[in-house]
Amino acid sequence: ASSFNKVMKPLDCFKPKPSFKITVVGSGQVGAAVAAFLLVRKLTKHLVILDVKYDLATAEALDFSHGSAFLGNPIVEACGDGNRTKNSDVIIITAGARPSGKTRSRLDVMHKTVVILKSVVPKLVELSPKAIFIIICNPADVMTFAVQRIGNLEKHRCFTTGCHLDTARFRYLIAKRLRVPTSAVNAYIIGEHGSSAVPVRSSVTVGGIRLSDVVKDWARTRTRRSGSDLMDGILNAGVHVSKAKGYTNWAVGLTASDVVKCMVENTGQVCCVGTDVKGLYGLKDSVVLSVPCRVTASGISHILELPLNEDERKKLLKSADTLLEAQCSLKW
Ligand code: 2OP
Repeated sequence: ASSFNKVMKPLDCFKPKPSFKITVVGSGQVGAAVAAFLLVRKLTKHLVILDVKYDLATAEALDFSHGSAFLGNPIVEACGDGNRTKNSDVIIITAGARPSGKTRSRLDVMHKTVVILKSVVPKLVELSPKAIFIIICNPADVMTFAVQRIGNLEKHRCFTTGCHLDTARFRYLIAKRLRVPTSAVNAYIIGEHGSSAVPVRSSVTVGGIRLSDVVKDWARTRTRRSGSDLMDGILNAGVHVSKAKGYTNWAVGLTASDVVKCMVENTGQVCCVGTDVKGLYGLKDSVVLSVPCRVTASGISHILELPLNEDERKKLLKSADTLLEAQCSLKW
């Protein structure tokens, strides 16, 4: 390299354009999917994969690096102790205990995951004091509350992809039923990224047309084949995939890369991500759940208080209660 540098001379006026340095914590199925989509969408020129299983993280980093020629030549490196994460702009936490056995509820694994977070978050915050944290490990809402507290992080820069994923599934299933492109469907699922999530049916539009104006009680229509109604399909979409293949990773990886794209391009796009929404809808306590938020390069700039009908408001408050109870049960 030193002899080659005699012919490749750096220009002293050159200043590299700062690119987002991103750390993905966890090199399991979800972490690898998040890393893959960040690289393929060229959202980072410097990716660090942090995992206590350093050999696995190293193998993943090497495998990605072998594809450098197709990825815009990013730096992809592994890390086992956190040191290489220094000065990350974005830290995406996917590492956590996974639901197993009969109960596959996301809330079941929270105590084990908090132990993992307490062992890794303080050092990440110390080495990257300006980083924005995106939490994916489940139960995502409660784990976001935990990371905000463990890392003493403000709510605009520590949030979860949460119902941005459920919203994507909601839009897809409506589009599929109506045989229109997903891009034509505007819809939100808010609240818990879990079984108490709230599909906001009253504000669903397709091509700008409010669905409830043209199809009465549209969500209760049953599919001819399966007989299950649309709502069951939506609320169980993740569980259905997880039961079939043991986990989900592609949709959540794409979701995470969509949120990061908003930050890298500073678009201010509205994403249904989850953070502390104390004061919204009359909520008196700090509770992390998903609502439409404006996402910028500096994190969440605004929260949108979506108009809800009586039934949706009741369900959202019930979702908040579920999450508040889980948050209060955390053992610090
Ligand atoms: C999902 O719903 C992993 O919780 C994530 O797919």
